[in-house]
Amino acid sequence: MRRTYTILGMWFYCLSPFSFPSAVPSAPPQLSIASTSPTDIRLMWHPLSSQYSRGAVTRYRIEYSTLDQVDSVFSVEVGGNETQFTLRELQPNQAYRLRIAAGTGVGFGVPSEWVQHRTLNVTRLLIFAPTELKVRARANTFNVTWHPSPNHTLVSGYKISCQEVEAEDSANGERTTQTHTIRLRKKARYHLLTGLVSDRQYEVRVWAFNKQIEGAAAVWKGRTDKAPGRTPSPPMRPPPLRPSSIQATANSSTSIWLLRCSPAGTTNASLVSYHTSIGQEILIDSLKPFTRYELAVQSNGMDVVGPFSLTMEESTLSDRPSTPPEDLQLSALDSSSVLVSWRPPLEPNGIIVNYRILYSGNLSQPEHLWKNLSQEGVITSVEIQGLSSGTHYFFKLGASTEVGPGPYSPVKDVHTLLQPYELDIHAVTGIIVGVCLGLICILLCMCLSFRNSKSRYGNTTYCIYDNYQLV
Ligand SMILES: *[C@@H]1O[C@H](CO)[C@@H](O)[C@H](O)[C@H]1NC(C)=O
Ligand SMILES: *[C@@H]1O[C@H](CO)[C@@H](O)[C@H](O)[C@H]1NC(C)=O
Ligand SMILES: *[C@@H]1O[C@H](CO)[C@@H](O)[C@H](O)[C@H]1NC(C)=O
Ligand SMILES: *[C@@H]1O[C@H](CO)[C@@H](O)[C@H](O)[C@H]1NC(C)=O
Ligand SMILES: *[C@@H]1O[C@H](CO)[C@@H](O)[C@H](O)[C@H]1NC(C)=O
Ligand SMILES: *[C@@H]1O[C@H](CO)[C@@H](O)[C@H](O)[C@H]1NC(C)=O
Ligand SMILES: *[C@@H]1O[C@H](CO)[C@@H](O)[C@H](O)[C@H]1NC(C)=O
Ligand SMILES: *[C@@H]1O[C@H](CO)[C@@H](O)[C@H](O)[C@H]1NC(C)=O
Repeated sequence: MRRTYTILGMWFYCLSPFSFPSAVPSAPPQLSIASTSPTDIRLMWHPLSSQYSRGAVTRYRIEYSTLDQVDSVFSVEVGGNETQFTLRELQPNQAYRLRIAAGTGVGFGVPSEWVQHRTLNVTRLLIFAPTELKVRARANTFNVTWHPSPNHTLVSGYKISCQEVEAEDSANGERTTQTHTIRLRKKARYHLLTGLVSDRQYEVRVWAFNKQIEGAAAVWKGRTDKAPGRTPSPPMRPPPLRPSSIQATANSSTSIWLLRCSPAGTTNASLVSYHTSIGQEILIDSLKPFTRYELAVQSNGMDVVGPFSLTMEESTLSDRPSTPPEDLQLSALDSSSVLVSWRPPLEPNGIIVNYRILYSGNLSQPEHLWKNLSQEGVITSVEIQGLSSGTHYFFKLGASTEVGPGPYSPVKDVHTLLQPYELDIHAVTGIIVGVCLGLICILLCMCLSFRNSKSRYGNTTYCIYDNYQLV
């Protein structure tokens, strides 16, 4: 199938021995190209419309050469019913140029423009970079952690290197930096780099290797902390930005999907968090709910670290409050009302849509029997009325976001005031006066009857005093 020929001889070679009274196609098919492995190039095209084919297309001719040797053109012909073809056994990491022409019985039409395509790099494909590279920076150490390479079974160990990189604004010119490379066992998942200088910029690489090849490296760049006693440095500025199509979607209150990033890896240059992904999307989780995050993506090749994409922002979704409202305060206003006040939860995880106040005079009553009152989320105090006087009441309070309710605060209690005696003071004094007068009369009568028992007269006075008591 494959034949070499020179550009000069090309048109002669292509002439068909059979001539029909039709013409050659007036345009080439549209070609698209992809690589699925380091030695393959896959070509796809659409059939020509009859306007351009000018007769039945009986075959296609694909021509290709390496960019290094453009004179050495290879050619393949395939049937007119085909719309794709895969070139195999090519050289890895090699730039090729390719084109296609459609042919009728008469001959081939004009070929398409040359299209360039580089086959994939073997080493880069074979062992993928370790994922989830994270570095915990201290003043003199980095604790580097990672997850295994996706090709873990092919791997015989990991290597880690650490190199000081000069700050871009350093005016001192050349500074020599040395790279230590450390070999680690296959099972290693973290390594402590020591002896670093505080407040310096470093680049840490971790990659897997086996007997034949070194894998792709996951790369982290960041600073050691300042030596203790000084204020922490502001976060490192990201490298110059490069626009690229990235998308982030909040998937839950603690995760964000990062989609369509540049291939092979994502990094965040800050010390805080770094994620790598071999695919073009990554789920970043363990985030805080209802929090705005800045995201930027960087692509890492074998030896090249690409620039960051533009920073984009995305918020995690809201969630139920994870803490109860703060500082619940109760104060009895009178015998039937209590003022309840509070502050919003420390971790509302969203916008508070309402507060629910539960109260009861009986602490051992099940929760659903407690009286319950809902207040709008902007309110932080309410007067509860219609309580019984001199009664022990128990209160608790919970906040809800649109997602759902959070936990209740601890129970607090309050005594309503006793009923004051303001009713009918005249009646009470009347009774007291009556009782006193009655007692006086009894005493007087006792005195009189004692005196009468000594004299023979005096019955009338007795009756008069008796009547007075009844008035
Ligand atoms: C094209 O035709 C050949 C021979 O008739 C046949 O072997 C092949 O399967 C066909 N291909 C497609 C894509 O129909
Ligand atoms: C491809 O791999 C070779 C080593 O085999 C390396 O020198 C070269 O830089 C790599 N190219 C790319 C684009 O990664
Ligand atoms: C390494 O892992 C990636 C992702 O799973 C896979 O596409 C690739 O083919 C693997 N390489 C080898 C040599 O198995
Ligand atoms: C480094 O991180 C690993 C994994 O998180 C941990 O087990 C190890 O104790 C850490 N080492 C130091 C010195 O902090
Ligand atoms: C988030 O994504 C994961 C993985 O695709 C999926 O299982 C989960 O249901 C998603 N969660 C939400 C809230 O959409
Ligand atoms: C990296 O993440 C931190 C917090 O997670 C953020 O403050 C910083 O802006 C991010 N850096 C980039 C380059 O997006
Ligand atoms: C308090 O509630 C419990 C459970 O409902 C009940 O058994 C108990 O009798 C109640 N106490 C009073 C004083 O009402
Ligand atoms: C409070 O009352 C509402 C409706 O009146 C009810 O849906 C809710 O379950 C009650 N809450 C409790 C804890 O009893």
